[in-house]
Amino acid sequence: MSLWEKITNFLSSGYTEQAAAVPDAPEAEPETSNDSLSRKENGMSYTISMTVNGTACSGDVEARTLLVDFVRDHLELTGTNVGCDTSQCGSCTIIMDGKSVKSCTTLAVQADGSDVTTIEGLATNGDLHPLQQAFWDEHGLQCGFCTPGMIMAGVGILNENPDPSEETIRHNLEGNICRCTGYQNIVKAIQSAAQSTKGAA
Ligand code: FES
Ligand code: FES
Repeated sequence: MSLWEKITNFLSSGYTEQAAAVPDAPEAEPETSNDSLSRKENGMSYTISMTVNGTACSGDVEARTLLVDFVRDHLELTGTNVGCDTSQCGSCTIIMDGKSVKSCTTLAVQADGSDVTTIEGLATNGDLHPLQQAFWDEHGLQCGFCTPGMIMAGVGILNENPDPSEETIRHNLEGNICRCTGYQNIVKAIQSAAQSTKGAA
């Protein structure tokens, strides 16, 4: 059984099963060569490694540690917000291997070996990413709480389809909530970014 399967089984089993499943000492079973996680001595902590915003990083996490907590608390990248913690609002959206994911419902161990981009990684040499610029130009924010997640969701949309229709944008933003209800300008900003990057692609 792979280490990831063990973690999944552990998380999905009941308390009694968990208690029975956790031995006092780590199992002697050797890791397979495919396991990219290295298990720590106490058997409850895992060393994970990933590339975040172009920089290799690693850290020790529990099996239950959420990716958003790893990003915010361990890496101190606090631009990723937590709004609901239940995968409904999209404030915690980041890019993992090119796709937008909600980091409040992604385990940190699931991101082991991944290429992760957070809102802090979009600008280059002080120049805003085209989507950041478009949100600025189109006034795609009010209080700004949803904005990092909206922009990262927009990056995910444009990664999949560089020229999305308004309907596609609205459909793909269904998992992101703006408390200020500024959806019209958010959609316009993503359309604008799609237009501005057309020639550059
Ligand atoms: S905090 Fe992740 S979806 Fe709301
Ligand atoms: S701008 Fe306020 S929550 Fe979206």
